[in-house]
Amino acid sequence: MNLQVATQAVLEELSRMRSEGISRVFIQDETLGILEDLLSPNSFIDKPVPENKVSKDRTNAPEPLRLEEPSPSQVSSPKDIEIETKSLPPPPDFELPEGTKESRWEWLQKKVLDCDTCNAELNPNGKVVFGEGDLNADLFLCGEAPGAEEEEVGSPFIGPAGELLMKILSAMGLKREQVYLGNILNWRPRHNQAFGNRPPRQEEMEFCLPYLKAQIEIVQPKVIVALGKTATDGLIGRDVKRRLSQVRGIWNEVSGFPVMVTYHPSYLLHNPSKASKRKVWEDFMLVMEKLKMPVSEKQKAFFQ
Ligand code: URA
Repeated sequence: MNLQVATQAVLEELSRMRSEGISRVFIQDETLGILEDLLSPNSFIDKPVPENKVSKDRTNAPEPLRLEEPSPSQVSSPKDIEIETKSLPPPPDFELPEGTKESRWEWLQKKVLDCDTCNAELNPNGKVVFGEGDLNADLFLCGEAPGAEEEEVGSPFIGPAGELLMKILSAMGLKREQVYLGNILNWRPRHNQAFGNRPPRQEEMEFCLPYLKAQIEIVQPKVIVALGKTATDGLIGRDVKRRLSQVRGIWNEVSGFPVMVTYHPSYLLHNPSKASKRKVWEDFMLVMEKLKMPVSEKQKAFFQ
């Protein structure tokens, strides 16, 4: 690989990680040595980075260098942010009442909005955010957690990532009111940084999952789209070794519902390359196909 191309790739990867909030990367001395060597003034010749050294570094690193979207959140990991964390109670255990979709949804909405734990986790002036949309929607879009705009208003996907998601829907020929929008978490995870979002902790995800699953049970969508890593971990189960690229673009199944994994819109906001947009668009074209929505030649050519 050409040195300039390799350096550019490292720079892009670091910028991408930074944009997603990763503020610490573990680098072993050996790795630094390789980089210094490569970039030293008398090193005009491309030297291959020894494979074993790179992989050894990654294996031993406490915070592995993640090569793809870890989470849409701006703040990397709970370890990086010192917030007072107290244990949450066990996840809520409940059964939906009998009734119409509307009455069951209203029952659940009240339960979530009144949930003591959700309310105790809120930022000052923040609101609990419950899912919303068409209760008969074929398409259920699942995100990570509310962001600043969402917690202020109490609606999912109304900030920049939501706006981009609406553009994707519009490219499919759909409107916000025609789908259902939910999140793994019903509150915006608190942190002590000036801006950005913190990815939910496993315990937080586990607490809110019954609320998400109950919404899926009510809506009975034909397809669920897991937007990003948190939604994927929540829906198809956590797997630290899994990369989104391994599970996106193929059909997964959760409790009988087809699930398409794709990158989170906030990933696209920070990586607006044609190639990233095309990957997401291809995933959504598969969703359209599954939903028996016509895909025009014009649509097929988007981001090519
Ligand atoms: N990102 C999400 O994952 N969910 C929202 O509701 C907004 C932004």
